[in-house]
Amino acid sequence: MSEVLQGKVALVTGAGTGLGRGIAQALAEAGADVAVAEINAESAEVAASELSQAGVRARAYPTDVSKSDQVDRTFAAAVSDLGRLDIVVNNAGISRIGPHTHEVSDEDWLESIAVMQTGVFFCMRAAGRIMIEQGSGSVINISSIRGYSPNPGRMTYCSAKAAVIMMTKIAAGEWAEHGVRCNAIAPGVLRTPMWDSDVARGVIDEPFYLDLVPAKRLGTPADVGALAVYLASDAAAYVNGSTIAIDGALTSIPAG
Ligand SMILES: NC(=O)c1ccc[n+]([C@@H]2O[C@H](COP(=O)([O-])OP(=O)(O)OC[C@H]3O[C@@H](n4cnc5c(N)ncnc54)[C@H](O)[C@@H]3O)[C@@H](O)[C@H]2O)c1
Repeated sequence: MSEVLQGKVALVTGAGTGLGRGIAQALAEAGADVAVAEINAESAEVAASELSQAGVRARAYPTDVSKSDQVDRTFAAAVSDLGRLDIVVNNAGISRIGPHTHEVSDEDWLESIAVMQTGVFFCMRAAGRIMIEQGSGSVINISSIRGYSPNPGRMTYCSAKAAVIMMTKIAAGEWAEHGVRCNAIAPGVLRTPMWDSDVARGVIDEPFYLDLVPAKRLGTPADVGALAVYLASDAAAYVNGSTIAIDGALTSIPAG
């Protein structure tokens, strides 16, 4: 275990599986205690119990990030149980790829925005209230290259991910004088349960992406976890308001 985040406490949303689980693992291996804020109570418990094997304290907090009362309760419980809050990773997300704009249902629009924009806002607000008083903290929002590189059939997803990039900048500008940083990560294509289920539904063509990505592979939760550890650490003390792509150069080629 590295010690770069020793003594720090992290809260990761959607950490029951996929990218959130990988980020939580990386933070735990760097020494941080971890609060798993996850809508799926069962996967939250499994994740917390596996994370504690890294030798840190880890607790599950079943939470729907789109509900402000649940978010506020979880943040209060995590601070009470784990003593402080230094790192918040807003990762929870859903994928509703498919319908074009004129065919998007009210339900898909409202649910996507509720989880990936409003939910991020609720968690940023809760984090800011705690971290400003503490005089330190690092908030990391998981956006996507789809926040600036559009894809047909992703009206709901791309809209929320673009909003998160602006929300990140606004908070960074507001919070910097209080010692609190806010950055975003924009992953490209990652092997996670979300990716696998989109491939299985036929809305993502994996061989096409494996050929298209200059790195010639999908990214992994561990790739992104390493970046999250850096952004959470004091080594990134002057990195604030940034959106960092981690995409194997996918958006560095035409039509990426
Ligand atoms: N997989 C990719 O290629 C990729 C690329 C770019 C960005 N992302 C982003 O990374 C994040 C994680 O995606 P993933 O691929 O790991 O997805 P995933 O579906 O594998 O995992 C998402 C997790 O979020 C949880 N969750 C869903 N709704 C929630 C809610 N309302 N409250 C709390 N938790 C909730 C799920 O239960 C699940 O554990 C998302 O924000 C996604 O948009 C993923």
